[in-house]
Amino acid sequence: MAETAYFLGIESSCDETAAAVVAVTDGRLSVLSSIVASQIETHRLYGGVVPEIASRAHVEAISRITHRALEEAALTPRELTAVGVTAYPGLIGALLVGVNFAKGLAAAYDLPLVPVDHIKAHIAAAYLTEEGAPTPKAPFVALAASGGHTSLYFAEDPLHFSVIGRTRDDAIGEAFDKIGRMIGIPYPAGAGFDRLAAEGFCRATGLSDVGEAYLSFPRSAAARDAAYRLPSPAMHDGSLDFSFSGLKTAAINLLHHAEQTGVPLDRALFAAAYTHTAVEAIAKQAEEALSRHTGAPFVVAGGVAANSHLRRRLTALCEKRGVPLHIPPLSLCGDNGAMVAAAAYFAYEGGIRADDRLNASAADGEDM
Ligand code: KG4
Ligand code: ZN
Repeated sequence: MAETAYFLGIESSCDETAAAVVAVTDGRLSVLSSIVASQIETHRLYGGVVPEIASRAHVEAISRITHRALEEAALTPRELTAVGVTAYPGLIGALLVGVNFAKGLAAAYDLPLVPVDHIKAHIAAAYLTEEGAPTPKAPFVALAASGGHTSLYFAEDPLHFSVIGRTRDDAIGEAFDKIGRMIGIPYPAGAGFDRLAAEGFCRATGLSDVGEAYLSFPRSAAARDAAYRLPSPAMHDGSLDFSFSGLKTAAINLLHHAEQTGVPLDRALFAAAYTHTAVEAIAKQAEEALSRHTGAPFVVAGGVAANSHLRRRLTALCEKRGVPLHIPPLSLCGDNGAMVAAAAYFAYEGGIRADDRLNASAADGEDM
């Protein structure tokens, strides 16, 4: 029988305190437990994450969440192979809670400590598939789309990444959250935006199938209406970069204009136009990245990978190009501990270890 290794993953970079155990047998990863304590309700009052409040909530939750993850996995800390923890990037105070807790745990049980890059962890979640489902075969092209990142990578393997495109200003998740808030969708607006846009696509085209409605949307009379025309966040300079601040500003102007002129805003139609513009920009740069790396599979991860329109559009793109698409299950798109445990496994295999001098960092890793 092949031996099984067990990785604990601890995540506290933003507004979720999470811990999970991932088992690895013969290179095959499976989630034994995944506990997430979300602080969303607390931050919603302020319309966004308040860093000090996030840190305090992590302090309160981390021990309990980790204990539950081990309990659900039916393991004691001594049975773990290693402790993985998100060390960067993120909110510094929030990261410090997880890093110091993991350091203490590793020292108390004499376990290896593995620092994890939050973005690589999002991408590693694509390896946490149902049993029998295919996992990404490296090298691959990856998209990390979250509240803080919109980047394209070329990954030689799950540990070695180079950036091939990135946003020059705001991230796509942030662009959904900020504009969502302006049209009355509570924080974080991603999921609400997704549903509202679906309504807009269907109504604008008269089609009931959302996928078909999305594809027909540009030809619909409603979308041709200049009132909802928005600039593409894909850079037009031959790079694979993005700029979401232009889209955001144009949307803000459009909303202000509607308010000032007293023309009632069609929220669903606006959400559809905004989503379509954002998703098409991603699809354009993704297609270019895939054509520069012929045959490479495509991994899409991060909170925004939960977006149903983006998932459908990228599925169609990969089908057209004949390359496999890997997106983590919905439950593992947002921040969680299982993705950290998965990334810890790859880093551990790559010989990465930290000692009690490990520090957290707000900034991206060097290759990200
Ligand atoms: O990866 P994540 O949980 O945290 C960061 O690392 O930032 O991503 C959170 C982001 C938020 O901006 C949230 O609004 C967005 O993911 N999000 C979505 C959807 N679900 C979550 N954006 C678009 N459509 C969704 N269905
Ligand atoms: Zn994240």
